[in-house]
Amino acid sequence: MAKRGPTYICQACGAVYHRWQGKCDACGTWSSLSEEAQAAPVPGGRTSSNGKARGRVFALETLKGDTQDAPRIKAGIGELDRVTGGGFVPGSVLLIGGNPGIGKSTLLMQACAALALSGRRVVYVSGEESTGQVRLRAERMGLAEAPVDLAAETNVEDIIATLGQGSRPALVVIDSIQTMWSGEVESAPGTVTQVRGSAQALIRYAKTSGACLILVGHVTKDGQIAGPRVVEHMVDAVLSFEGEGAHAFRILRAQKNRFGPTDEIGVFEMTGMGLSEVTNPSALFLADRDQAAPGAAVFAGIEGTRPVLVEIQALVAPTSLGTPRRAVVGWDNSRLAMVLAVLETHGGLKLGQHDVYLNVAGGLRVNEPAADLAVAAALVSSLSGAILPPESVYFGEIALSGAIRPVSVAPARLREASKLGFESALMPSGGADTGDGGGLMLRRFGHVTELVADIAA
Ligand code: TYD
Ligand code: MG
Repeated sequence: MAKRGPTYICQACGAVYHRWQGKCDACGTWSSLSEEAQAAPVPGGRTSSNGKARGRVFALETLKGDTQDAPRIKAGIGELDRVTGGGFVPGSVLLIGGNPGIGKSTLLMQACAALALSGRRVVYVSGEESTGQVRLRAERMGLAEAPVDLAAETNVEDIIATLGQGSRPALVVIDSIQTMWSGEVESAPGTVTQVRGSAQALIRYAKTSGACLILVGHVTKDGQIAGPRVVEHMVDAVLSFEGEGAHAFRILRAQKNRFGPTDEIGVFEMTGMGLSEVTNPSALFLADRDQAAPGAAVFAGIEGTRPVLVEIQALVAPTSLGTPRRAVVGWDNSRLAMVLAVLETHGGLKLGQHDVYLNVAGGLRVNEPAADLAVAAALVSSLSGAILPPESVYFGEIALSGAIRPVSVAPARLREASKLGFESALMPSGGADTGDGGGLMLRRFGHVTELVADIAA
């Protein structure tokens, strides 16, 4: 076997190099390569069975009973169960990422307590806090009496041995995967090799024991789950817990889910006694709306199966810079550039000498192209100084030609707007029948020129 030189591993994405270099070619991060020992082989996995066939195959239809044995375990927290797709799947592994202090440990302690109170064995392993600190948090939420097994441990072999004692746990939480280390991997804790090795061992435990495993992962400044990008590929579901520091809202979103949808969101509010569920997010996002200001438009959006109304705020102001600024919070940068270009080309707006700021109120991140029309309305309103009717909602996708295209599930959007007291909707002229439109006055537009003319009028 050829002699192996040192190996350099990118701590951001896990790419492996045999020579040091300043920039990782795979993810573009600078100075992220560090020398690490090669990942240890799977223990006992070098020779399997002297070439004898050991991997078993099964006929698909004979496995029917296996899947039926494994009903989902509902946490009893509606917003969490919605995002997982109806509860945790036994034997599955879930990675939950989020900024420090966003409330990951809080959410998971609440889920653990709820499951433990329903009579299941639940183990919460903290690598960051002592058991006393974890108990303090539980006390604050009034959950100190829940029969959750706590451990403050960072060595995965010890953890797996501990989990083997007593009855099989239904749920195991590892807070966080970056603090774990395995004695079988020769690297410092926190390095990609350690994180990957520890995750592999824990995942193997979950798959063989049938326990549901939740790994907490820290994220970097730009929102990536730090170090273990590699772990994202090893787990069944990746959830992110988001929120703006200034707001009490927290949004749980599935980025990947082998057992459920990826477009559902769970909305929570951080209170003095832990996280409380927000079952009507629209009312929350619109709560402190400034009624009579130019540049504000209410977008009737859909998150998963649930309609969510949010306010889109735009500020278009004369610039003092050579290149005007475009800044976006909660929406896609390139989508804004597109809407601006369409408004300039087809709507006759002059934006070359203006800075443009766009914000989705309440800390929500909107991903739907259906928000185009609300964004365009907010921009035109801010530039012209004309206030949009406050009892109106907007939805519709804008094409490069300036045409306003129909979007999906219009009736649900209209019903939600009607429920919250809105009176009219500005929407695309084409598209499926919308029934009675939820009792709203429907104003249908086919092109951005009509929108610009309408706001200016
Ligand atoms: P935590 O769950 O420790 O965050 P993470 O595990 O994601 O780092 O939450 C920490 C923050 O939440 C901290 O700023 C205090 C706040 N908090 C409350 O406001 N109310 C509560 O009941 C709890 C437990 C925490
Ligand atoms: Mg924590």
